[in-house]
Amino acid sequence: MRLVVLGSGGREHAMARALLKGGHEVYWGPGNGARGDWSPLEDAYNLDKLQALQPDLILVGPEDPLADGLVDQLQERGLQAWGPTAAQARLESSKAWSKQFMRRHGLPSAEFAIADTLEEARAAIHRLCDQHGVVVKADGLAAGKGVVVAEDERSAGQAAQELLAKYGRLVIERRLLGQEASWILLLRPDGFQALPLARDHKRLRDGDAGPNTGGMGTVTPVESPFDLDQLGRDLFAALEQEQLNYFGALFVGLLFTSQGPQILEFNCRLGDPESEVLLESMPGDFLQALQGAQLPAWRGCCLDVVLAHPGYPETSSPAMRIEGIPEGVTVLHAGTRRDEQGQLWTAGGRVLHLVAHAENYESAQREVYAAAQKITFNGRPAHYRTDIGRTLAGRL
Ligand code: GLY
Repeated sequence: MRLVVLGSGGREHAMARALLKGGHEVYWGPGNGARGDWSPLEDAYNLDKLQALQPDLILVGPEDPLADGLVDQLQERGLQAWGPTAAQARLESSKAWSKQFMRRHGLPSAEFAIADTLEEARAAIHRLCDQHGVVVKADGLAAGKGVVVAEDERSAGQAAQELLAKYGRLVIERRLLGQEASWILLLRPDGFQALPLARDHKRLRDGDAGPNTGGMGTVTPVESPFDLDQLGRDLFAALEQEQLNYFGALFVGLLFTSQGPQILEFNCRLGDPESEVLLESMPGDFLQALQGAQLPAWRGCCLDVVLAHPGYPETSSPAMRIEGIPEGVTVLHAGTRRDEQGQLWTAGGRVLHLVAHAENYESAQREVYAAAQKITFNGRPAHYRTDIGRTLAGRL
């Protein structure tokens, strides 16, 4: 099959590798500094060029082109795409719409209110803030910067003012407590296949300290304290009723609370950095899996540690020279580029993903952290968390 992957992050690098493993002809663009056996795509989002390539399937990685209707445009040209239309992608691109969808179908999720003005936001905060605080979310896509977990009414009001000024409409949510997990469903119009649970580590520093980021590392599998089968069936029935059962990935952000699993959010794509561990440890062919083939039993543990620019998440300048990448560890590129001499440079906040798939978390940790110590940005160590997978080591 001739397959196209669109996007330029670690997720798309993982997608391209997984498809190549299945023996397919893979084109990838815009890409980044990674090298591999795919064909690079110049001018990747040019629809005429994509059409001329006559691919069997185009897999769209990131959220922005999905929300902007890229799949609609591809379908209008008779091209087969993996990803939702803009209308279906509203599950991710509008938090307010997605919370209303959950409410319409009785899917478990925190109590919420929608606010278009500061006055409405303050009233909602007053009603929903308790001793655990309250969550203030921008309605639209905000690249991970649109959610504030506020400890009290005063800081929630401040966050609401800032987010309203920047993004407009808000969702105010009661704060729930529990362990988070990322649940990715490979959706098809007639069914779905759930991948094993993964866990992202969103804070910049060890012990979940520091600011929120796009994700500093992931692990899979993680155990669920609940049987998720019924939730999956209810969710798919709800999607079907509203014709949201598209051909693509649905990322369900879950929180395991004392009241059972609660849905925090939907993303209409593969997670990043969840894809890096899920696709690297997937036991069968990714293309067949997304077309509905049941995957065999998953084995072992997979861990991803992100190496970030020292200025991340505030800045990714200046570009830094990347050196010391050792042999024998899987390195997925995110914010990297190569110069004309082939030298690798940082070109973003999250730069590299080091991934290890091993029998247990201890072995995966040893492998990844030995490699992380050897890689330098301008001769200095990169920033990375040293505790990815620590709480799971010894448990599986
Ligand atoms: N890891 C969270 C996301 O992909 O949005």
